[in-house]
Amino acid sequence: MRAVQIDRHGGPDALIVREIAEPALAPGEVIIRAAASSLNPVDWKTRAWQVGPRLPATLGRDLAGRVVAANDTAQEGGAPVIAMSAQIATGRGTWSDLVTLPGHLLAPAPSSIALADSASLPLTGTTALQALRSARTVAGERILVIGAAGAVGGLAVQLAHLAKLIDTHELRLRVAECYPLDDIRSAYERFEAGGLIGKVLITF
Ligand SMILES: NC(=O)c1ccc[n+]([C@@H]2O[C@H](COP(=O)([O-])OP(=O)(O)OC[C@H]3O[C@@H](n4cnc5c(N)ncnc54)[C@H](OP(=O)(O)O)[C@@H]3O)[C@@H](O)[C@H]2O)c1
Repeated sequence: MRAVQIDRHGGPDALIVREIAEPALAPGEVIIRAAASSLNPVDWKTRAWQVGPRLPATLGRDLAGRVVAANDTAQEGGAPVIAMSAQIATGRGTWSDLVTLPGHLLAPAPSSIALADSASLPLTGTTALQALRSARTVAGERILVIGAAGAVGGLAVQLAHLAKLIDTHELRLRVAECYPLDDIRSAYERFEAGGLIGKVLITF
């Protein structure tokens, strides 16, 4: 299967799309066939900075895909799911055709949007929620969201205002551009150029 890996930290030219062995399934784990992932600031930092797991490493944190095998009775084969992998701590990057994660990290993908688009939600949505919760705002209070045109800020504004879910059609995800996995370097270059109104997705 294909995976985006680095053998060294550096610019987009450090990214290599290569064939690696398919993952094994441990108790409590699930194998997901990736439909898409997205680019987040932590992904270029993990690529460029001396952080993260031992090299070579597979990059990527966000994931949208379908369950192909499960050692977890709560997960059903074929189910569309989203997840976020703690790649720096565990070394499990999501930028590969098949990804193995503990079942408890999966959530059902929203049904009202394309599965690939939902890859823009896990890390940004978690961050926006955490920021709002740590601000301990109460109803009626006014908040200032800096970077509200960005991925996290765009969700934080909506969550603060609406406190509703995607499947009520009131929380909108913004996808700026999609790149196939094999064009990961171009995706990074576009992402790092900035000025995006929405996420950059990687499709499989
Ligand atoms: N994405 C995540 O899941 C995540 C998770 C944890 C932490 N974070 C952190 O949260 C922050 C936002 O991340 P993001 O993914 O939302 O990034 P993003 O999509 O690139 O959004 C950042 C927004 O802030 C704007 N901006 C840049 N510099 C600014 C400045 N000096 N003053 C005001 N606005 C400015 C950007 O405008 P331009 O594009 O025009 O420059 C963009 O609209 C970053 O510091 C990131 O490291 C993100």
